[in-house]
Amino acid sequence: MQSALKDGLLTGKVAFVAGGTSGINLDIARRLARAGAAVAVLSRNPEKVAAARALIAAEGPKAAGFVADVRNYADVDAALAATAKELGKIDIVISGAAGNFLSPVLGMSANAFKAVVDIDLIGTFNVLRACHAYLNLPGASLISITAGQAVHPIMFQAHACAAKAGVNMLTKVLAMEWGPQGIRVNAISPGPIGDTEGMRRLAPTAVIEKSIKDRLALRDYGACADIAEAALFLCSDSARYITGAILNVDGGNDLGDSSSAARMFE
Ligand code: COA
Ligand code: NAP
Repeated sequence: MQSALKDGLLTGKVAFVAGGTSGINLDIARRLARAGAAVAVLSRNPEKVAAARALIAAEGPKAAGFVADVRNYADVDAALAATAKELGKIDIVISGAAGNFLSPVLGMSANAFKAVVDIDLIGTFNVLRACHAYLNLPGASLISITAGQAVHPIMFQAHACAAKAGVNMLTKVLAMEWGPQGIRVNAISPGPIGDTEGMRRLAPTAVIEKSIKDRLALRDYGACADIAEAALFLCSDSARYITGAILNVDGGNDLGDSSSAARMFE
């Protein structure tokens, strides 16, 4: 994909990407590195952290990686402190760690519901709350990665719907509380993105995949690069007056099903 945003855009900046070791968030981390930022990533799996760190180091000026669970505030805080020490004060924070699986509510234990809420919502609180002490102010840009589940009820997604709705509200409240200090807080809401763990879990068969694509205005899955470009834009000075926004990068997913009405005229 040809980027509309020039490389070197983030030279001298420092970014921290929670959940930045695979899929969409890894692509964001790599894109920020290619734009010139020093980038730290955090996730639970040491092999994934090491692999992501190596990819980022090959593409950008500096890389760091931390093994931690976003559900543990002290560990998140320690990773952010180490990032500021190793790479410098933090300009950009992406909170993208998430867990998901398809399950009816009656197939979910209390702990299953809690696991997703803890990772997605409490994890985002932990990352955004803890990062404040290490930000380069004014001018920091914080981005939560949310999902359409935040605003559209979807069966078998009670945990993710509840958690991501909370992420949207947390994002907006922080935009209000921290705007006066020169901190912008936004969210990106990806649509269905191909070749990701998320869609492998939510659309495990070709039939389900086709039915999802058929409902979308743009009739196709997006790519990780689509989300990375949007993140780069939101981190850049081009977005200096944007805060509290939930940016849909979703092929029209938020518009609802565009296939059934269209069929009336076929
Ligand atoms: N259906 C119903 N319950 C499920 C489930 C499923 N498919 N998968 C896990 N659970 C339940 C577990 O049984 C457990 O509940 P219990 O203690 O009552 O038995 C609870 O969820 C927590 O599971 P556990 O495996 O201990 O949690 P974890 O913290 O190790 O992992 C998950 C979190 C479950 C979200 C795991 O899928 C994960 O790590 N996902 C990350 C990757 C991902 O989801 N990517 C897509 C992002 S959109
Ligand atoms: P993914 O590859 O599974 O990415 C999830 C990342 O979070 C991984 O790096 C994972 O690494 C990390 N992670 C998970 N639980 C964690 C925890 N408790 N603590 C720390 N890190 C943790 O998934 P993806 O599909 O690319 O999704 C990325 C983001 O986009 C998520 O926020 C998701 O909700 C959102 N989204 C995705 C889609 C889609 O189509 N895929 C659509 C809408 C929104 P470890 O396993 O090493 O911890």
